[in-house]
Amino acid sequence: MITMKKNVVLICGIFISFSLFSQTIIKEFKIEKRYLNFPVEMKQERQMVKFVSKQDTVAFSVIRVSEKEPDYWVFKDVSAFMGQKLKLVFQKQAKGIDKIYQSEKFAGEDSLYKEKNRPQFHFTSRRGWNNDPNGLVYFNGEYHLFYQHNPYEIQWENMHWGHAVSKDLLHWEELNDVLYPDGLGAMFSGSAVIDKDNSAGWGKNAMVAVYTAAGKEQTQCLAYSTDNGRTFTKYTGNPVLGGTRDPKVFWHEPSRSWVMALYDKNAIAIYNSKDLKKWEFKSKIKGFYECPELFELAVDGDQNRKKWVLTAASGTYMTGSFDGSVFKPEYGKYYYSWGSQYAAQTYNNTPDGRRIQIGWGRIDQPGMPFNQMMLFPCELTLRTTPEGIRLFCEPVSEIETLHNKKYSLENVTSVEANKSLKNIDEMMFHVKMDIELDKGVGFEILYRGNPIISYDGNFNRFNGAPYICDNPGSFRFKIEFLIDKTSMEAFIGNGKLFISEGLKKEKSAEGLRISGDVKIHSFELSGMKSTWQ
Ligand code: FRU
Repeated sequence: MITMKKNVVLICGIFISFSLFSQTIIKEFKIEKRYLNFPVEMKQERQMVKFVSKQDTVAFSVIRVSEKEPDYWVFKDVSAFMGQKLKLVFQKQAKGIDKIYQSEKFAGEDSLYKEKNRPQFHFTSRRGWNNDPNGLVYFNGEYHLFYQHNPYEIQWENMHWGHAVSKDLLHWEELNDVLYPDGLGAMFSGSAVIDKDNSAGWGKNAMVAVYTAAGKEQTQCLAYSTDNGRTFTKYTGNPVLGGTRDPKVFWHEPSRSWVMALYDKNAIAIYNSKDLKKWEFKSKIKGFYECPELFELAVDGDQNRKKWVLTAASGTYMTGSFDGSVFKPEYGKYYYSWGSQYAAQTYNNTPDGRRIQIGWGRIDQPGMPFNQMMLFPCELTLRTTPEGIRLFCEPVSEIETLHNKKYSLENVTSVEANKSLKNIDEMMFHVKMDIELDKGVGFEILYRGNPIISYDGNFNRFNGAPYICDNPGSFRFKIEFLIDKTSMEAFIGNGKLFISEGLKKEKSAEGLRISGDVKIHSFELSGMKSTWQ
């Protein structure tokens, strides 16, 4: 996925060269319906499409407009232009241009969330590509999930900020994209804060998005919303800062200052600001790449014993202290996540102080008009282990409300367990088990014929990730895992290691199977309800 993202010509550059292009094709619509539907064919080259209303370009993107049969359809909500003329200016002819149509529904809306490979209790975008979660913030009863979105294709391009909201972190409603590429570039990752004291001057409790505009250079910009995140106005003084990308901003109460952790020329830079507009450089930490995160957590829930955690896109982390301007590492670098997760972000402003994370699951969604997914929301905690303080990651407790049918087993061998496990026909479920190696050096849990969790005691690894058992010599593990249509997320040792992977094509009809000489002290499986019904 990452390599796919690199083959990109910056939108800004295309935009400039497009104006030099003479042979444009123009298609005009008088907007009478909510959506414009576009046929996409992946074999076609991307071409720049400008949306022009009353002489002004209101949006532009590159789209693979079909020549033959479309592979899928994408849409743009044009309700803002109702009753007006909207001109679509294409760089070159394509037969699909004549197939673009207006409708109150977007193509395929009737089967939305019922598509064969649509994850049923994870967020995926209705159409197009998603990568990083952005601007995670709780406000007025809603968890906002903004995200890197290409609304026009199932591959990375045209970065917009997509938007969804949820009251419970489980049921999401996708709304319109809020940030569109502009003359400063594509809308790359960033964060959002609630400006409680009106420090930026856009009103008390304005929601302020701090994002990277990726044009010729990558710069940091602001946009604010006073309507619960439904629409944003870009700050006329943009950009507010240079640097590289992915600003994570939060309020630091002891120093009464905004803090920005920014991926800045191969390090994480810390900046401070009083008004979100003027930023002052404070310090740098080496050894981390994009999408930094910095937050404080109580150790073992003790509010008098707190540590700061610095992490970034890969999920490696250090713990240490932070005074508002300088992070002093004490331990690390460790990792808590392994596999498909990348560029996870945590929520600002949670109502109960929980540190809730959502990660990008780099998981393909075969044959679907959307691609990639968000992983299940997790709570992060710091706990003392025999090796020291470690970051733990577990599904948010709200998950229990999605449980339906339950199966359980107690004190059985794998041979005994498999007699019933093979009949499990659920497609979405949540397992909690307590398993102990009896003989040998490993075991595997298989789902529909493919190993999903493999413990190799010889090399001390779960699915390839080094793992130290908390009770040395016991080789007894608490394992929790979630299966959705296309994904597996496992939480080993109460979340000391979080593994996420895409599911492989099924090899057998057998539900679950455990191979290896193990004792299963307990096994509990709960079916999961779809969050889209
Ligand atoms: C991480 C990342 C960010 C960037 C964004 C672009 O996946 O590369 O650094 O802002 O994706 O989509």
